[in-house]
Amino acid sequence: MIEILPSILSADMARLGDQIEIVRSGGAKLIHVDVMDGHFVPNITIGPPVVSSLRRATDLALDVHLMIEEPDRYITEFVHAGANMVSVHEEACVHLDRTLNLIRCDGAKVGVAVNPATPVEMVEPVLGIVDYVLVMTVNPGFGGQPFIPYTLDKVRHLDHLRRDRDWEFLIEVDGGWGPENVAEAARAGAELIVAGSSVFHSENPSQTVADMLRLANEATWSRV
Ligand code: DX5
Ligand code: ZN
Repeated sequence: MIEILPSILSADMARLGDQIEIVRSGGAKLIHVDVMDGHFVPNITIGPPVVSSLRRATDLALDVHLMIEEPDRYITEFVHAGANMVSVHEEACVHLDRTLNLIRCDGAKVGVAVNPATPVEMVEPVLGIVDYVLVMTVNPGFGGQPFIPYTLDKVRHLDHLRRDRDWEFLIEVDGGWGPENVAEAARAGAELIVAGSSVFHSENPSQTVADMLRLANEATWSRV
């Protein structure tokens, strides 16, 4: 089963509760929350207080994508605020194993994220201890960019590795996905597909989520 994760980066931040209800009515079960610090990426977004408010506004799972330096300093706060899943960037972690264990100890699902130009080999040692791998399909920092085609080779590589080694992590793709290309991500092996601008900038975000869910799931039926 594939999930579409609307990214609130492209939502109307003054109406987040309403916007989450709208995408939920289209079938979204998880919400993607982009945290940017103006250092690891050239943009600044939100912190734990907003996650806390989101937690009170919805019971959908909150997938917090930390695009920040020194994530160890903030992980516990995000989990206490209500994050169900937390991903950190391999490129931002000096002691990646320690950071991933911190997320696990705090009680959230553990994700490791890789930038487009970071090879899968950089995270191969930790693939047995994560719940999901987030493959950035654009350079992190902004919504609305086109996906970078070579990143799908990494999704296929990860899918191959997990079948080969009996690992159970899920594959998440983030950046550039919409109804027109979601089938491609699903066929490559991703089951968590983030969609920001294609959902929230569409005329009918609820319908866009429903369409993407249908298209992605249909694409996997032909895959098996
Ligand atoms: C980019 C973020 C994405 C972003 C995706 O750095 O990590 O989650 O919201 O936006 P779209 O779907 O518009 O490419
Ligand atoms: Zn993201």
